[in-house]
Amino acid sequence: MTKVTLEVNGKKVTKEVPDHTLLSVFLRDNLNLTGTHVGCDTSQCGACVVHVDGKSIKSCSTLAADIDGSKVTTIEGLAKNGKMHPMQEAFKKTHGLQCGYCTPGMVMSAVDLLQTKKNPSEQEIREWLEGNICRCTGYQNIVAAVKEASTKM
Ligand code: FES
Ligand code: FES
Repeated sequence: MTKVTLEVNGKKVTKEVPDHTLLSVFLRDNLNLTGTHVGCDTSQCGACVVHVDGKSIKSCSTLAADIDGSKVTTIEGLAKNGKMHPMQEAFKKTHGLQCGYCTPGMVMSAVDLLQTKKNPSEQEIREWLEGNICRCTGYQNIVAAVKEASTKM
């Protein structure tokens, strides 16, 4: 067992977990933050993307113990004072989702993109989101959402 301390969505948490506990499991099973989805568990689909110290990572291929002491933001931590994040607003406005399974990971990846590059081109958005798979939308409205958010962030 390992003691892991993280700051998750602004709140410090410490849990004693098995050494091999994945960050996705730590968030979902230990903290009940089920907005982080698990689609493949093999680092391919991107449904599990969260931010660790401000950068997007796949939580299904990260050990919680390896990021001990880090700051983690999940989809639950994006809204502030009951107001959705501009990226969440943009997904809603452009209807950038259908079933919603990929959406938390898409949003977290897209937020990282706009923190890294202010006005990405359509090509850059598509390339950045390469690691996020959506089985429903055909990506068109997801790209539109990121474009829309780039005018607000
Ligand atoms: Fe992590 Fe699919 S669940 S990439
Ligand atoms: Fe269903 Fe993307 S909206 S997988």
